[in-house]
Amino acid sequence: MKINIALVISIIIAVGLVAFGFTAFQISSEREQLNSELQVKTIRVAEEFYKNNLAHLATDDSTQIQITDSAIGRYNFLGMAAYYHADSIITINKETATYLPHSTDYIARALSADSSLSNKINVNGKKVYQYIRLVKRQNLPAMAIVFYTDAEYIENIINSIWLRNFLRWFLQALVISVVTLLIVRWGILNPLNKVIEWVKAARTGNIEQWKTKPRNTFLAPLYREISGIAQAMQEAKAIAQEEARLRTSAESIWTPERLNEEMKQVLQNKKLIVVSNREPYMHIRAGKEIQCIRPASGMVTALEPILKACGGLWIASGSGDADRDTVDENDKVLVPPSEGKYTLRRVWLTKEEENHFYYGFSNEGLWPLCHIAHTRPTFRIEDWEYYKKVNAIYAEAVVKEIKDEEEPFILVQDYHFALLPFLIKQQRPDAKVALFWHIPWPNPESFGICPWQKELLNGMLGADLIGFHTQYHCNNFLETVNDSLESRVLWENFSVKIGNHFTLVKPFPISIAFTFKDYDSNGEIRPSPQELLKQHGINAEYMAVGVERIDYTKGLIEKCLSVERFLDKNPEYLGKFTLVQIGAVSRALLKTYSDTVSAVEAEINRINWKFKAKNWQPILFLKKHHSHEEITPFYRSANLCMVTSLHDGMNLVAKEFIAARDHNDGVLVLSRFAGASQELHGALIVNPYDIEQTADAIKTALEMPIEQQTQKMKRLRRMIMNHNVYSWAADILRAMASIQN
Ligand code: G6P
Repeated sequence: MKINIALVISIIIAVGLVAFGFTAFQISSEREQLNSELQVKTIRVAEEFYKNNLAHLATDDSTQIQITDSAIGRYNFLGMAAYYHADSIITINKETATYLPHSTDYIARALSADSSLSNKINVNGKKVYQYIRLVKRQNLPAMAIVFYTDAEYIENIINSIWLRNFLRWFLQALVISVVTLLIVRWGILNPLNKVIEWVKAARTGNIEQWKTKPRNTFLAPLYREISGIAQAMQEAKAIAQEEARLRTSAESIWTPERLNEEMKQVLQNKKLIVVSNREPYMHIRAGKEIQCIRPASGMVTALEPILKACGGLWIASGSGDADRDTVDENDKVLVPPSEGKYTLRRVWLTKEEENHFYYGFSNEGLWPLCHIAHTRPTFRIEDWEYYKKVNAIYAEAVVKEIKDEEEPFILVQDYHFALLPFLIKQQRPDAKVALFWHIPWPNPESFGICPWQKELLNGMLGADLIGFHTQYHCNNFLETVNDSLESRVLWENFSVKIGNHFTLVKPFPISIAFTFKDYDSNGEIRPSPQELLKQHGINAEYMAVGVERIDYTKGLIEKCLSVERFLDKNPEYLGKFTLVQIGAVSRALLKTYSDTVSAVEAEINRINWKFKAKNWQPILFLKKHHSHEEITPFYRSANLCMVTSLHDGMNLVAKEFIAARDHNDGVLVLSRFAGASQELHGALIVNPYDIEQTADAIKTALEMPIEQQTQKMKRLRRMIMNHNVYSWAADILRAMASIQN
């Protein structure tokens, strides 16, 4: 409203000033013209009158003038006077007497100038024109005849000009104001108000209104600019809100410290023992030195941070060639080496035991049985006997460790120890025993081919709690139990009852040690894929990374084939894209594994040979054990990570890659057959058997806009932070604590 009033006033003033200027100019020239016309006319008529009626004055000395009022009226004079000298003035009519006092000075000036003069005088507010005609007389002083004529009409004309121009100004100002107001209202204010409403919607987060963008071509550039700013504001606001939310919820995110506190509450001074076949630290000989390495194992990756945070005892097989040299008399060593946060108790297996228990039954029997990866399981009776024996050895070791402990918490890991829960509970029914199965559980028909499935299931069901990564694996397990054991499967609470013993079967998707501090860390400088590849003699712009134990379940051949297909389909990436495949040799004594190594190498050689160019190859195979610190630069710099497992319980490589992406970019290509695919919404999910699809996913990942990558990666990182391994441990320990023996 204010702007309208101001606008109208401005228009009125502007138009008024222009109109006034023009009118003043017009009037001044009009007045000049009228005055000069009046002068010319008055002089002409007066001269004529003089000639007709007064010419005799120049020659006689009479002071008598015979002129009547009506005579001067005919000549349109208002009055007339004959001025001989100040005391002798003859006036014609009454008006003349009124005018004369205003003329005397001027008459005197004409007489002394000896010249006729004319000008305008003001008589009581009335404009009168006077012409003073000098009459030169012989032998007599000059006299003057004064003619008065009406000049008022000039003022009337001037006034009417003023009036006309005022009216014109008023009308112009009115019309211009109305038109301007309409233009301002419909052409500017309305669209502007729409933009304001729209910006307000953006500010207040009214997404619906924000989405309906105002249409206006005149304000389009403004809209585009504001749109950009608003978009940036929205994003900044969303990020700020998210950051604030995360900050306030940071306390609810599980950290080592929080888990430590929680454990004190949950355990109530009871002992926590972790049992696994693979040890978290292996001491190995490297020349004269003894090195301590962390083996490539998802199970170790997950469990180690928990023990580090809370202390406790971890019982595992000593498999490093310098392991015996580093333990005390009780076969214990404090680890991690320089920190000594918890105790590792090593169990020594003989070569035969290792051969039949670990390589045989565990890895040639149960591993392929549980992974549907088209490698036949092999079941041998000797292996089974050793499996039972080693489980018993471990049971003894555990029981020995808990002999003075009341209601200890025993967390048994993986398929190597299916019988252990029952064996422990048999001797120590008060112990709370959980078994976490890190690999998939197949359907009942697949599992049913195992000759000792009942013994295995009974052994497992000795536990109070059995955990899998996914509900799907829990269901498969419960169905297997249902089909093969005399038991009651209580589907309503996912538990199994055998005699008086209940076993709860629950999913606990395992994770990694990733907390708010890791999430919040600003991306530190990292090498580009190009720089990293250059260190390996390869010149390429884009890099994918794969990190696996060399295992037939990991889909390594399929991964290589999809890289080949990607390059076949997209030759523009030849010489530009390289997959760095980090592969730790695993279970190498088994033929299926050594065959896998050879097959993968042969495939990589074939593909590299097919495409090889100077300083470039499509696949760089780094076949050796890599520490976490050695792998991290590849995770951080790669454009994408490829996890192509044919079957996998969870797959923590996928989560480690995400954790390493502190720049919030990069893409994860993830097999739908890995448990992680259930959680990691934002990854590009592929069927690794579908080479075409995986090849296309590489392209999609490489060409994904950075905003999209960031959006997905942030979501993935939040998800992992909210479900880290500390929350996993808290969940599982709380579940154990809630079980009444
Ligand atoms: C999988 C299993 C782990 C095992 C790891 C490495 O992740 O679930 O229990 O430790 O493979 O296998 P390895 O035979 O070397 O221990």
